[in-house]
Amino acid sequence: MRKLFMAGNWKMHMTESEALNFVKQVKPLVADVTDKDMLICPPFPVLSRMQDALKDSNVALGAQNMHFEEKGAFTGEVSGPMLKAVGCEYVIIGHSERRQYFGETNEIVNKKLKAALNHDLLPIVCVGESLEQRENNETMKVIEAQIRESFKDLITADFKGTGADLAINDWSQITIAYEPVWAIGTGKTASPEQAQEVHAFIRSLLPKEVAQKVRILYGGSVKPDNVKELMAKPDIDGGLVGGASLKPESFAGLCVFD
Ligand code: 13P
Repeated sequence: MRKLFMAGNWKMHMTESEALNFVKQVKPLVADVTDKDMLICPPFPVLSRMQDALKDSNVALGAQNMHFEEKGAFTGEVSGPMLKAVGCEYVIIGHSERRQYFGETNEIVNKKLKAALNHDLLPIVCVGESLEQRENNETMKVIEAQIRESFKDLITADFKGTGADLAINDWSQITIAYEPVWAIGTGKTASPEQAQEVHAFIRSLLPKEVAQKVRILYGGSVKPDNVKELMAKPDIDGGLVGGASLKPESFAGLCVFD
C-alpha cells in the first residue's frame, strides 16, 4: 500500500518572512496528519531558514531544482551537497517549467536524477505532455520517451526488464510526477480518469519488481476541492501542487481530507 504524498512546489514565490509565516500557520493545521507524507519545496534563498522552522514538524523540505555537478564554475547553480547541507530531503527534477523556459532536456534530467541519488536526495521526476501533444494523440508516446530517456541506465535496455541497473532498493527513493503542461496554473485539471490513464501507463513502464511501490503524483491545478476525487484513483498516489500550496489553509486542505 503506497502512502499518499502531498508536495507543495512554491515556484518563485515567498520571501523569507512570508515563508516563515506560512510555516508558523500551517504547522498546527497539519500536526495530526499521519496518513500522508507532506513536503514543501521553497525557493533556494529560504531553504536554510525553513530547515529550522520545520524542525520537529511532520512536513519535509525539498528543493525545486539542482545541478548535476557537485561543484564548479556554474554561475547561478546549486548542487546536491549544498541542498543536503540546508536540510533538503527531496528535490524536484525536470519540472515542465525548467524544460520549457530553461532548456532542460531528458538527457539533463537523467544526469540530475543520477546526481540526486548519488547525493542521497529523494528525486521527484516530472513528466507531462503539452496541449498540442495531447490534441495530436501523442500523450503516451511523449510520456514514454520522457520516462525512457530520463531514467536511462536506471531501467534495463528492454525497458520492461528487471530494473537490475538500479538496485531495487534505490527505486524506493524515487517519486514520479505526472504534470500535463496544459493543466499547470491554468485552473484546468485533468479529469481523474485522464490522470489515472496516464498514471497506470507510467506504472506499466517501470520494472515490474518496483512498479507497485513507486509513488506517482499528479500535478496541474490540484486544489482542496478536487483533491479527493483525484486521490481516489488507484494509481494516483499524491499531488505536486503549485498555486494551492501557497496558502496555509489551502495546503492543509490538500493534506486533511477523508
Ligand atoms: P498548479 O498547481 O499551480 O497548477 O502547478 C502545478 C505544478 O506545476 C506543480 O509543480
